Amino acid sequence: MKASSCFVISICALSLCGLTLGQRIEDICTLFSDKTVIRDPESCSRSITCLDGKSTYSTCKSPTPFFDKDTLKCVKTLPEADNCDVSCANSASLFVADPKSCFGYYYCMDEETPVYGTCPDATHFNETIQECIWSHTSECHTSNFDYCSIIKNGVNFDNVLGCDRYHVCTKGVLEDKTCKTGYYQARTGACEAKTLVRCDSHPLPKDVCGTTKSPKKNVMVPDGATCQGYFFCADKGENQVDANPQWGKCKDDLFFDKSTQSCIEPNKVVCTEDRCQGRTIPFVLSPTKGCRHYLRCVDGRTLDEKSCGNYFFDEANAVCVSQILTYNIC
Ligand SMILES: *[C@@H]1O[C@H](CO)[C@@H](O)[C@H](O)[C@H]1NC(C)=O
Repeated sequence: MKASSCFVISICALSLCGLTLGQRIEDICTLFSDKTVIRDPESCSRSITCLDGKSTYSTCKSPTPFFDKDTLKCVKTLPEADNCDVSCANSASLFVADPKSCFGYYYCMDEETPVYGTCPDATHFNETIQECIWSHTSECHTSNFDYCSIIKNGVNFDNVLGCDRYHVCTKGVLEDKTCKTGYYQARTGACEAKTLVRCDSHPLPKDVCGTTKSPKKNVMVPDGATCQGYFFCADKGENQVDANPQWGKCKDDLFFDKSTQSCIEPNKVVCTEDRCQGRTIPFVLSPTKGCRHYLRCVDGRTLDEKSCGNYFFDEANAVCVSQILTYNIC
């Protein structure tokens, strides 16, 4: 019940929690990298080409009316042609759930004509009662759509359940993958530096709140993704680990310091994540030993590192100075 617990905790910004499980994927191409071609989940005859997270449709015509997701060609027949169209059989004048999402549905005009629709924000479609219901009362959490029926093997695509996670189909079976380093960038289909990827809910580091043997209680721990962010591990009782710690972050130009459990001046905080993130100045001190280097920041991330030669970097004045300067981090 990750998503629903978010609604009641006030420190949880919508941008952080709303997306974990309730994320609305309005265009299927937001999952796929540029130029990926997939079969349209609604039709055996249509293909979708993804560009910039947007779908472009093409339709196969007679005498090759079907789209083959493996060869990406229009073909005469498909082995699985019976189950690749949305089925309105026996559902005329009824709504059927969209297997790709919790909020989508099809209205069957007759037994052959599904028309796609979506429930309003914060609601899910419930096929049993044929209505949109509040998402926090819904039991639909993730899609159970078989993505491997529309995409060929070996192509990475986003797993919206975590910034570092993605999927790939291998021999037609969906696999869950995790980036070894960095986060998954849907647009490029690759794992990239964390700061390059928009991430609204950082994955929990392993054992972030300790283990059942020694759970962390009422303590803030670094989020393992930014220098500003932390998780608050609540006291869940004896031998209970907080499995769902709340995320928070320091104000701009302050970093989280574990030892004092507070937000302090960045150059006092040893942190290996991108030191440009959360800073409002264009040049920041680099952790490279000697305090003679600085980082150039663009859009909250490191562009490159520069050296002051034999001089020291004076961050406050953004200049190299001959006077010896020392900081905790370098
Ligand atoms: C739909 O509503 C029925 C009846 O209230 C309920 O039993 C069922 O769990 C709901 N399904 C989902 C996916 O929420």
